[in-house]
Amino acid sequence: MYKIPASTLFLGKNLVFMPECHSTNSHSLQLCQQSPLAPDGTLVITDNQTTGRGQRGNKWITEPGKNLTLSIILKPAFLDVKNQFFLTVFTSLSLRDYLQSKGCSDVRIKWPNDIYVGSKKICGILIENVVSGNRFSNSVIGIGLNVNQDEFGVDNATSLRLSLNQSFDLQSELETLLAFVEARYLKLRQNDLQSMMEEYLSSMYWRGEPHLFSSNNNCFEGTITGLDENGRLKILTNSGENLFEVKEISYVR
Ligand code: BTN
Repeated sequence: MYKIPASTLFLGKNLVFMPECHSTNSHSLQLCQQSPLAPDGTLVITDNQTTGRGQRGNKWITEPGKNLTLSIILKPAFLDVKNQFFLTVFTSLSLRDYLQSKGCSDVRIKWPNDIYVGSKKICGILIENVVSGNRFSNSVIGIGLNVNQDEFGVDNATSLRLSLNQSFDLQSELETLLAFVEARYLKLRQNDLQSMMEEYLSSMYWRGEPHLFSSNNNCFEGTITGLDENGRLKILTNSGENLFEVKEISYVR
């Protein structure tokens, strides 16, 4: 059970809590179809997400009652769809801000929107938009943040508890997190795109370091140099600069 956060102006003031739910993103998208049920800033949150969805059609599996598993419904009608990538930018930066405020060190954004502490993923983000014309009518920001879980069955995942060696109260973390999300969203509303992009670039995982990547079953060495205006990843290889969409590239090591 979660309470309406006191830390925000509008995020989470309409709070939909479900003890169990298939996917908070799917539920949010359904609410958006019945618009009076989904005012701007609606928070959909569950203790037990049974068929959580991740990027690239992956599943998001999370231990019941241990983590923050939520979706926020926003109405960024002020944003041109050509700037869609800034929804990823503001959300990733808000998670980075939150984790840094908790004292996590080496918080990085693995393009496009996995949040890492050191070499381990602590948070996944799935953003799903409903567009009408060249504007967003709804944007569902799905966040899976590992808080108190300490076993994942994989090497490259972590949680706040594993990173900081203490347990956390989920309601209190929710309130803190939402305040950071709201602050970044208000900056996005002010159209402060350039400075947000600079902050995103400076937080990118593996940027400026040579690493191995894979694309079309082909493994190659390259260095992330930045992003193009559509948010595609730029990698410099010995054959020059290449651009990649999310589905076209994997990070190897
Ligand atoms: C990823 O890393 O692949 C993205 C994971 C996103 C998971 C969150 S949990 C809350 C929301 N509901 C979902 O079904 N997915 C997102």
